[in-house]
Amino acid sequence: MSSSSPSRPTSLYGGQAGRRITVRDIAAAKERGERWPMVTAYDAMTARVFDEAGIPVLLVGDSAAMVVYGYDSTLPVSVDDLMPLTAAVVRGSSRAMVVADLPFGSYQASPQQALETAARFMKEAGAHAIKLEGGRRVLPQVETLVSAGIPVMAHLGLTPQSVNALGGYRVQGRGQSGDELMADAKDLEYAGAFAVVLECVPAELAERVTASLSIPTIGIGAGPGTDAQVLVWQDLMGLTASPAKFVKKYFDLAHEMDRAVRNFADEVSTGAFPAPEHSYS
Ligand code: KIV
Repeated sequence: MSSSSPSRPTSLYGGQAGRRITVRDIAAAKERGERWPMVTAYDAMTARVFDEAGIPVLLVGDSAAMVVYGYDSTLPVSVDDLMPLTAAVVRGSSRAMVVADLPFGSYQASPQQALETAARFMKEAGAHAIKLEGGRRVLPQVETLVSAGIPVMAHLGLTPQSVNALGGYRVQGRGQSGDELMADAKDLEYAGAFAVVLECVPAELAERVTASLSIPTIGIGAGPGTDAQVLVWQDLMGLTASPAKFVKKYFDLAHEMDRAVRNFADEVSTGAFPAPEHSYS
């Protein structure tokens, strides 16, 4: 049996290509104590770059509302907006598990609504798993999806779809609400979620949740003690104008793009572009 057989879990980051990462690989990484990266992706070309770099999980986040569609929150984006982005990320990758974020209003009404939305992402876009926001209030949805064979990634802490109820983008889980977050995380694990995103929670709480669960935690603004870390790619590449405190900028893409496009514009106005080597005889 080859090392890329689905029956043998592979190292998540930097492991062999040849097949998609599965929930078994992710569970095995938790057992080994392997820490792993997740990034967002919204199109085929960036998905290919991240996939070839060995990123094991690509999230087609509803953050697309802001970074692709230009809204000022994640609330306006629809299933129809996210469906083609998800399909593009699946087409652009061959190894990563592609997780589709269920947008606001597409799963909260009932387990049946959640199942219908998730099934669309899996059947029409080819997603391998879905993510939804919330704790105990979405347990019936999680149970229904899991029993239908759909891997569910949960999301606790700062859940941006609830920004109006939370009163803004603020740290969650301080004080007594940390116990509620812990209880939510345990219930989500019990309901069958395969991983849980912890967004904007105190590092100490994230570390305790991580130690209490047998499924991996994926931190974003949750300190170093989670099993995995996720960032929106435009944040980590330096395209976002005012990123959150938890973002580390690994590149200055906005600056590089500005430089390149000005260079192009200058060469067009002076006639230096196109040169003979860019022209057909
Ligand atoms: O939509 C998104 O990009 C997310 C991540 C920030 C976890 O939910």
